[in-house]
Amino acid sequence: PSRYAVFGHPIGHTQSPRIHQLFAAQFDIALTYEAIDAAPEAFAEAVQRFFVAGNGHGANVTLPHKGAAFALADERSEAAMRAGSANVLTRLADGRLAAHNTDGAGLVRDLTERHGADLRDRDMLLLGAGGAARGVAWSLLDAGVASLTIVNRTAATADALADAIGEPARVRTRYWQDLADIGSFDLIINATSAGVLHQSLGLPFSLVGTRAVCYDLAYGAAAVPFLAWAQAADAHRSFDGLGMLVETAADAFELWHGQRPDTEPVYQVLRQPTV
Ligand code: ATR
Repeated sequence: PSRYAVFGHPIGHTQSPRIHQLFAAQFDIALTYEAIDAAPEAFAEAVQRFFVAGNGHGANVTLPHKGAAFALADERSEAAMRAGSANVLTRLADGRLAAHNTDGAGLVRDLTERHGADLRDRDMLLLGAGGAARGVAWSLLDAGVASLTIVNRTAATADALADAIGEPARVRTRYWQDLADIGSFDLIINATSAGVLHQSLGLPFSLVGTRAVCYDLAYGAAAVPFLAWAQAADAHRSFDGLGMLVETAADAFELWHGQRPDTEPVYQVLRQPTV
């Protein structure tokens, strides 16, 4: 069977092996899919070992390696170039490595197709401007949001992202300390790593508009504080990033196997509480 993996650090709680095995079962494809823990300084060598000596076919890449994965690839998709990061590495027939970023497309599909959210004409607030935020910002704009307000604890990083997008009519930045004074939004995306770090964002309820959809790119325990805040603020709907994870995995699966898996049954399996 062909060989696949996910690289991360830490990687203990990854759902990717399970997702890819469930997809593979839909097509009777036999594959191995392992989780590889690599510290940042060991990442490039571990990737090399997997693809060259180990004859690996494809790999997912998660925190904190998405930037490094982009940098070491031989060719890069447009979405990866925009984000400056990659969540998928694929070995091409000639042995070179291709980098893709499917995060933004996965988020938009989860929001619009699974959750039925209409993104057009929405005023959107993006919290955070790091790797996760860069991975989704362009796709949300492509999906037709009316305005995008980027707020980051470190203001310069938010400005750098807005500059990279280069759409001053639709994209603005505000200061984190002004969050209580910038009004309300229809769509609020938490792209900070505060939940993973067990830190509180201290967000004001005034951000949440009456029809607001709140979405945390993280899932599991890391998404709990933001979703609890959204519910306390009476958000219309709030979601964690589990559906996005399954959708981004489906894009990787299609890149590698040329077949589009059905994500819904896999999403339902992952939603079930583990015993
Ligand atoms: P990721 O790949 O998860 O995006 P990252 O690139 O390190 O990781 O970015 C983390 C993001 O979460 C940043 O926007 C960071 O803000 P800074 O640029 O100011 O560091 C944000 N973040 C992390 N902890 C935070 C906290 N406690 N409050 C607010 N923002 C936080």
